[in-house]
Amino acid sequence: MVKSVNVAIIGSGVVGSSYISQLKNLKNNIVFNVVYLAKSSESALYSTDYKPVDLASYETATTSPTLPLNDLVKYLKGANKPTILVDNTSSQAIADYYPTFIKEGISIATPNKKAFSSDLKSWTELFQAAEQPDAGLVYHECSVGAALPIIAPLKDLIATGDKVDSIEGIFSGTLSYIFNEFSTAEKSDVKFSDVVIKAKELGYTEPDPRDDLNGLDVARKVTILARLSGLNVEGPTSFPVESLIPKELEGVTSVAEFLEKLPNYDADIQKVKDEAFAEGKVLRFVGKVDVNANKVSVGIGKYGFDHPFASLKGSDNVVSIKTGKYPNPLIIQGAGAGAEITAHGVLADTIKIAERI
Ligand SMILES: NC(=O)c1ccc[n+]([C@@H]2O[C@H](COP(=O)([O-])OP(=O)(O)OC[C@H]3O[C@@H](n4cnc5c(N)ncnc54)[C@H](OP(=O)(O)O)[C@@H]3O)[C@@H](O)[C@H]2O)c1
Repeated sequence: MVKSVNVAIIGSGVVGSSYISQLKNLKNNIVFNVVYLAKSSESALYSTDYKPVDLASYETATTSPTLPLNDLVKYLKGANKPTILVDNTSSQAIADYYPTFIKEGISIATPNKKAFSSDLKSWTELFQAAEQPDAGLVYHECSVGAALPIIAPLKDLIATGDKVDSIEGIFSGTLSYIFNEFSTAEKSDVKFSDVVIKAKELGYTEPDPRDDLNGLDVARKVTILARLSGLNVEGPTSFPVESLIPKELEGVTSVAEFLEKLPNYDADIQKVKDEAFAEGKVLRFVGKVDVNANKVSVGIGKYGFDHPFASLKGSDNVVSIKTGKYPNPLIIQGAGAGAEITAHGVLADTIKIAERI
């Protein structure tokens, strides 16, 4: 008999629409019935008889208002079939609801970091719920490093008795690009503010680049890796996070004014870059987890010209994981952002869940 699972997709932004397109073209021996598709927070496609949504015409199909989350649980449960919820949003409200879905046996595949990087209580509640008999599964590979295989190998190492000593990496595609351009093994006078402006023009930054420069996105990813490694990190603001926003510009309201004033602070970061260069090092914006010392941090680090972090290209991510089995660290490197690649990672998680449920 052909295996068939129900899928509820939330979000059709850049990752969500790529996910839908990849699922539509998927060739697999499991049948994925999309019984609910929330195109946005307002509008959704579904029918009370669970007729699969036609993914070829979803963009133009007539929609209904989205179901409130408690009604969505009831609707999905009503089909009496193994069900996967794919959350392609960055919504905190949906993330807060994961324990309810899980307890009802509905599995989750998501690139949304919120459930895993907010307060420790939510993390504990979620994974305690996931341990109950008949609970749904939780796969979130793309919450760190997009589709790079980081979380799955880390979990496999821990599950088979390995002990993580430290994790260090470049986890923001935007800050990877900015520092790869700004600080190189060749002498360069490129200005920090010019690189930030170029990154924004290329669409690599958030609409407000301060959302990248404040380090919080990296702190969220490091929180996830630290927790997976066994540290009880309270949240992404509970450890030192170096912000690249000059103190004096913290109160500036508009993006335009921030970018206009940023060149006034180029000399400060240029000095740090020149000092590193004199030592044969480049600057990189890194997250660190030292499991043995129970320490987590995010900020600028210096790396020798021959270090793997120094030769990073474009907006790639890299992570170095030192464990008992890997005293010479396991290094995972590649594209750490992008809608296509992220959607592929979420789809891979969806398939893994479907194979297990
Ligand atoms: N883009 C990447 O390269 C990348 C890489 C790794 C991870 N991620 C993660 O992937 C997720 C999606 O990112 P994205 O770049 O695709 O964001 P996006 O383009 O802003 O899309 C988010 C979508 O979610 C919808 N949405 C928000 N709240 C909703 C709700 N309550 N119900 C239904 N739909 C809702 C939004 O619709 P409306 O706002 O129009 O209602 C929008 O269509 C995020 O968690 C992000 O951190 C992205």
